[in-house]
Amino acid sequence: MCGIVGYTGKALALTPVLEGLHRLEYRGYDSAGIALTLGAGEKLWIEKRAGKLGNLEEILGNSIPQSHSGIGHTRWATHGGPTDSNAHPHLDNEGKLAVIHNGIIENYVELRADLEKRGHTFKSETDTESVAHLLSDARKAHNGDLAAAMREVCAELRGSFTLLAIHSDEPGRIVGARRNSPLVVGVGDGENFLASDVSAFISHTKRALELGQDEIADITASNIIITDLAGKVLPHNEYEISWDASAAERGGFEHFMLKEIFEQPKAISDTLLGRVSGLDESVTKGINLEGIDKVVIIACGTAFHAGLVGKYAIEKWANISVDVEMASEYRYREPSVDNKTLLIPISQSGETMDTLMAMRYAKERGARVFAVCNTNGSTIPRESDAVLYTHAGPEIAVASTKAFETQLIAMYLIGLHLGRVRGTIDAKLAKEIEAELAELPAKVEQILETVEPLRALTREFKDATSMLFLGRHVGFPTALEGALKLKELAYMHAEGFAGGELKHGPIALIEKGTPVVAILPAENSLLAEKMASNIQEVKARGAVVIAIADSPFAAADHLIRIPKTHEFLQPVLAVVPLQVISYEMAVARGNDVDQPRNLAKSVTVE
Ligand code: M6R
Repeated sequence: MCGIVGYTGKALALTPVLEGLHRLEYRGYDSAGIALTLGAGEKLWIEKRAGKLGNLEEILGNSIPQSHSGIGHTRWATHGGPTDSNAHPHLDNEGKLAVIHNGIIENYVELRADLEKRGHTFKSETDTESVAHLLSDARKAHNGDLAAAMREVCAELRGSFTLLAIHSDEPGRIVGARRNSPLVVGVGDGENFLASDVSAFISHTKRALELGQDEIADITASNIIITDLAGKVLPHNEYEISWDASAAERGGFEHFMLKEIFEQPKAISDTLLGRVSGLDESVTKGINLEGIDKVVIIACGTAFHAGLVGKYAIEKWANISVDVEMASEYRYREPSVDNKTLLIPISQSGETMDTLMAMRYAKERGARVFAVCNTNGSTIPRESDAVLYTHAGPEIAVASTKAFETQLIAMYLIGLHLGRVRGTIDAKLAKEIEAELAELPAKVEQILETVEPLRALTREFKDATSMLFLGRHVGFPTALEGALKLKELAYMHAEGFAGGELKHGPIALIEKGTPVVAILPAENSLLAEKMASNIQEVKARGAVVIAIADSPFAAADHLIRIPKTHEFLQPVLAVVPLQVISYEMAVARGNDVDQPRNLAKSVTVE
C-alpha cells in the first residue's frame, strides 16, 4: 500500500525522493506527490498528481528545486478516489506544513468536524488531511516544535498510520511516526532517510534503524532522535540490510515477477541453508514447544495457501491438530486460544494488518507465537516469540512467487522440528524428507529450464473466460494458489477445487472447452487413482485438461511434467507451472504484470 519516503541531506532532495518512490512502486498506488522545504520561511514546494509516477514526472520536467529535504508519497486510495486533490502530501491552511500518511485514521470524521468548527477548511476527502490541520495547531501550541506536535497528535489518533511531516520554517527536519504501519530510518553519511521499507534507500545506505509501535523519529541530515509518545528518548536499534540494490532491480528480465520466478531455486536453498537437519537455537530459543496441544496458522492470500500445505505436513509429522485460519476472519469469531496454542503467523511483508491483528488477539490470550516472515525488522516478527525468517530476498512483484516457495519450505522445517521435539516422526522418514528437501532447488531449476512450451500453450487459452484448478491432498492448496495467481494477474474467473468436491456442485461450471488445470498426486500415491477419476469426470463434460504430473498421464490433453519428490513436498514443484501460466496469461492479455490493478503488495489496512 502507500509508499512513503523522506530525505534530508547533502543531495538535492527531489532526486532521492523520486528514486525512493520508484523503488516503492511495487507496493501498489494510484496517485503520487512530493513536498520539499526551501529556505527558512519560504513556501513549501509541492506537486501531486493522480495516476502513475510518470504523470508527476511529466509536470516536473527537468527542473530540480534547490531543496535538501522533503517527503514523497505514492497513495493507494482508501478515503476518497485517486484524484489530484486527494493525492498526498496534504497541507495545513497556511500552506506551511505538509503531511503524508499510510494507513487509516479511524476517528477522522469527528476530528474533521471539530477542526471545521474551529475554522479549518479542507481541500480533500481524505482522512489524512485532518492530521495536517491538527499538527499545525499543535505545533503552534508547542512553540514551533514539530516533534512535540507529532507526539501530541498521535495520542489523539485512532487507527493505523505511518506519518511524515515537514514545516517550511524548519527546512532540513522531518518528523515521522508509526502505529501498526511500517516505517524505517535509513542512516546515511551526511544524509538520513525515512521510508516504508528499506528498498526506498537501499542504494544509498545499508544501515537501518527499527522503529517500534508509537515511536516518533525526528531526523535532520546529521541527527536522529527517536522518542516514545511521552517524549522519552529511546536507544537506536540499528541493523545491517543484507539485500543489495540489484536485488530490487529487474536485472534484464522483462518483469520483476519473471525474475522472481527464476530466483526460486536460490530462494529455496537460502531458506534451507543450515536448517535441513534441524532448526538451531538462534531460531527457536524464544519459544517453548512443550505442552502445546494445537497449532493455529494465520495468514492471508498466498501465505494462507502455504499454511494449508503446512497443515498436511505438520499434522502428519508432528501428530498434532492444526487449524489454518484466514487472518481477516480469525479474531472476529472470538476463537478459543490459550497458552497451549502454538500460533504461526505467516507473512512475507511482516506488516499485513489482518495477520498482525489476529496475532495480537491470540497473543493477548497467551498463545506462543512462532512467526514465519521474509522481512527483517517488520512488525510481525518484532512482536513474536520466535521467528523463522524465509530468505526469499526482496519480492517486488505484487503477485507472490518466491516468497510462497520459501513459506512452504518454512512449513516443512517447522513440521520436521515439531515432529522431532515431540518424538512423533520416524527418524528414517525424517532423513528421507531432509534428502528430498535438499534436492528441491535443482528440481525447480529443471522445471524452469523447460517453461517455453508451457508459455506457448498458455497463449492458446488467452481468450478463455474461466479456468479451473483441481488438486487433492497438498495438491488442493496448490490448486487454490494457482487460481489466486490467475485472478490477480489475468483478471479472469479462476477457482481451485479439491478433486473429490467437484461432483458436489462445481462440476456444473464445466462446459465444452473449459480449461482445467489438474495437479496430479505423486505417482502411486493413495489418491492418484481417485484424481484420475475426477479428471475423467470433467473430460466427459468437455473440459480441456492440462495435467501437471510427475509421470505419464494419457488422459491429459496437455501434460506438464515435473520431477518426482516426496508427496508432501510436491507443491514446491507443482506451483511453478501455475505461476508461469498466470504470468504468461497476464502478458498475453496486456495486463500490468508487476502491479496488477487494484492490488497492493503490502496490505497495511484491515
Ligand atoms: O505480506 P503477506 O505475506 O502477509 O501478504 C499476504 C497476502 O496479501 C499476499 O500473499 C497476497 O495474497 C499476494 N498478492 C498473493 O500473490
